[in-house]
Amino acid sequence: MAKIVAGVCSSHVPAIGAAIDNGKTQEPYWQRVFSGFEESKRWMEKVKPDVCIVVYNDHASAFSMDVVPTFALGCAAEFPPADEGWGPRPVPVVKGHPKLAAHIAQSVILDEFDLTVVNKMEVDHGLTVPLNLMFGSPKEWPCPVIPLAVNVVLFPPPTGKRCYDLGAAIRRAVESYPEDLKVVIFGTGGMSHQISGPRAGLINSEFDKAFLDALATDPSKAKGIRHVEYMREAGAEGVEMVMWLVMRGALDDKVNEVYRFYTVPASNTAVGHIILENAAA
Ligand code: DHB
Ligand code: FE
Repeated sequence: MAKIVAGVCSSHVPAIGAAIDNGKTQEPYWQRVFSGFEESKRWMEKVKPDVCIVVYNDHASAFSMDVVPTFALGCAAEFPPADEGWGPRPVPVVKGHPKLAAHIAQSVILDEFDLTVVNKMEVDHGLTVPLNLMFGSPKEWPCPVIPLAVNVVLFPPPTGKRCYDLGAAIRRAVESYPEDLKVVIFGTGGMSHQISGPRAGLINSEFDKAFLDALATDPSKAKGIRHVEYMREAGAEGVEMVMWLVMRGALDDKVNEVYRFYTVPASNTAVGHIILENAAA
């Protein structure tokens, strides 16, 4: 049986990708950010997942404003890096797991979550930056990745509760897959940030840290946060944090917090990161 053994959350700031691609990771500003992921990379080496499910949002790279799916599951064999205006990032093509992805699509849709199935898709910084943070910059990504794109760019995004419940459905799907596979699920985006308008640059560390606490020990509190509260407390783009709840819903109610990191700022964003393991993992 396949099993979700752990969840990883991290911000997906595009400038982190640019720092890697332009050889700036040793500069003090970026060193502060990357040093927080050294232990995470060691943890990942030890866990060695067979597959990762990466919950992220597309930033009008694969989906234009013409079509904006609420939840879109990548079922393709591969997902090339998207051109976000400076050419595609020089990172490996993401290899998918079409068999497990098709199984998840079937299980979750029959469980009444109406996913969009995507058979061709490019992936942007929302997905590739967290892969770099957790795996470094290898020639090939060490395992297949199933992308799950969540709409958080065009109102209305799904609620935190809906995201959490979808995570629980994904867990049921994975656990009904007959092959023995060790799966790690990522939630990406956040933490507090606002990119434009009069409140541009807003960061709310108190809210972010309370969210990390709730995510670890009180998920029902975290899933109850409403859009307006994310917007008010964590900025317009802070609503990306609902994606972390997909990850949380896929884990046990009680989890072991393995690691946490928080630093301000990276670009316009507070960088938050947490690793949670299922107790029986
Ligand atoms: C920034 C952060 C994001 O999550 C994003 O998608 C785009 C920009 C930023 O901090 O600049
Ligand atoms: Fe983003």
